[in-house]
Amino acid sequence: MTSASITVRVPAKVNLQLAVGPLAADGFHPLSTVFQAVSLYDEVTATPLPPGAGVRISVRGEDVSEVPADGRNLAARAAQALAERLGVTADVALQISKGIPVAGGMAGGSADAAAALVACAAVWRPDAGRDLLVEVAAGLGSDVPFPLIGGTAIGTGRGDRLMPVLASGRFRWIFATAHQGLSTPTVFARFDALAHERGTAVPQPGVDERVIAALRSGDAAALGAALSNDLQQAAISLRPELQSVLDAGLSAGALGAIVSGSGPTCAFLVPDDEVAMAVTLTLSPTGLCRTLRSAQGPVAGARILAR
Ligand code: C5P
Repeated sequence: MTSASITVRVPAKVNLQLAVGPLAADGFHPLSTVFQAVSLYDEVTATPLPPGAGVRISVRGEDVSEVPADGRNLAARAAQALAERLGVTADVALQISKGIPVAGGMAGGSADAAAALVACAAVWRPDAGRDLLVEVAAGLGSDVPFPLIGGTAIGTGRGDRLMPVLASGRFRWIFATAHQGLSTPTVFARFDALAHERGTAVPQPGVDERVIAALRSGDAAALGAALSNDLQQAAISLRPELQSVLDAGLSAGALGAIVSGSGPTCAFLVPDDEVAMAVTLTLSPTGLCRTLRSAQGPVAGARILAR
């Protein structure tokens, strides 16, 4: 056990493909997804506390009023779960610094949990392997394992069973955040309701080989054309203005536009600086976006920052 603070930087994710199957008896949907880690980051600092102090959470950054700063925070639950798994007591202060949009469909809360696992493991048991962290992560939420590995990966099961994908080069993104977040269970419930209204069976999800081929060859135009998200229609039916945001970005020259995960953040794949600027300048005056951020992917997963 170390007595010094450990800071971990962790990336956001975007789903390049999100195929959603029929609601299963466990209340979850089988997924087939392709994650990419992108260069929007949160930082989590773990500082050991005296025995009996428990887990303390503090959060800073934009929109932190929406983030619980207590035991409900997924990072606090991550620290507790890891402590139980390692047989230590969870006495630690976790300071979370948000750079990932809150409730934006970019797995910010899951990223914080992943970062808390890496930071707390470094404090309590520096020799704990990544496999152990991935196992604890999967018990916390479907999106928690991915930020541990980062890069680009296929996720199956609930999205938590990961297989890295080789991607050539870097892809450039603009992310448009919305004024208000969307709840993941609400979007999945709308997906179910829309499927029910259609009256057709939801097929089992599968990986889109066009996405994998575009990643391997580093072909941004092909990737833009292949982006897909089965939750997009549900997110748009809850927030119709998202369709205008997507259309505006495409009209400005984006290679592809997609709602990120369960939304409401919209992701635009762009070929160069010029189009990145055009997308930003087109979306900015619409008043539909809270922030417009430029990022690139893939980037590495959760990493300890040098002290
Ligand atoms: O696993 P996680 O806590 O991120 O999931 C949040 C909610 O999203 C679940 O309670 C469920 O309603 C929905 N979900 C789902 N199918 C998945 C992942 C999440 O229905 N594969």
